[in-house]
Amino acid sequence: MNEVLKKIQQIGIVPVVKLDRVEDALPLAKALIEGGLPCAEVTFRTAAAKDSIKAMSDAYPQMLIGAGTVLTKEQVDDAIEAGATFIVSPGLNPEIVKYCIEKNILVVPGCANPSNVEQALSLGLDVVKFFPAEAAGGLAMIKAMAAAYVNVKFMPTGGVNEKNLKSYLDFPKIVACGGSWMVSADLINAGKFDEIKTITRKAVNEMLG
Ligand code: 3PG
Repeated sequence: MNEVLKKIQQIGIVPVVKLDRVEDALPLAKALIEGGLPCAEVTFRTAAAKDSIKAMSDAYPQMLIGAGTVLTKEQVDDAIEAGATFIVSPGLNPEIVKYCIEKNILVVPGCANPSNVEQALSLGLDVVKFFPAEAAGGLAMIKAMAAAYVNVKFMPTGGVNEKNLKSYLDFPKIVACGGSWMVSADLINAGKFDEIKTITRKAVNEMLG
């Protein structure tokens, strides 16, 4: 398995972050690290994404920083330039996947059904994001797809929370779960980093418990 993927698997939960202000990047990174999740998928849903990735990866080289909601090749370039070590997208765009492979950066595209998974397989991937996890059928859907695609592993994201986290992670075909419940935009925008740390810690305890 790819080294970055191994680290994602070890960490177990990928916080999906939407940052409106670059100033929040470092306190957020610190809260995540102190809460026990040295990882973030910083989404390109805001103009602050690139600079936030750069700030976090410069200040906390031990942290695993990826880029999320990557929809264009320019965003792939920006993410790599800023120091991201993995790329996530909500859906599977073959052009973006091929571009990431060419650039030698791990890519985890979103797949919501068997056709998406087969497209990922044909592009040489065996780990995909399952998105939007709860809305697209949850664990039952993953189990059904895993039965057919025996070598594929999944990273469910979308509707994962403290309550259903463990049921996902207990299934061996799941490498990690993604989610935003510990890093909601409301908490970030209100500067509630202590609360983020507490919820992060609870998520880690839930995962380990
Ligand atoms: C994502 O893009 O991966 C999702 O927005 C994260 O889903 P969640 O907000 O339901 O955790």
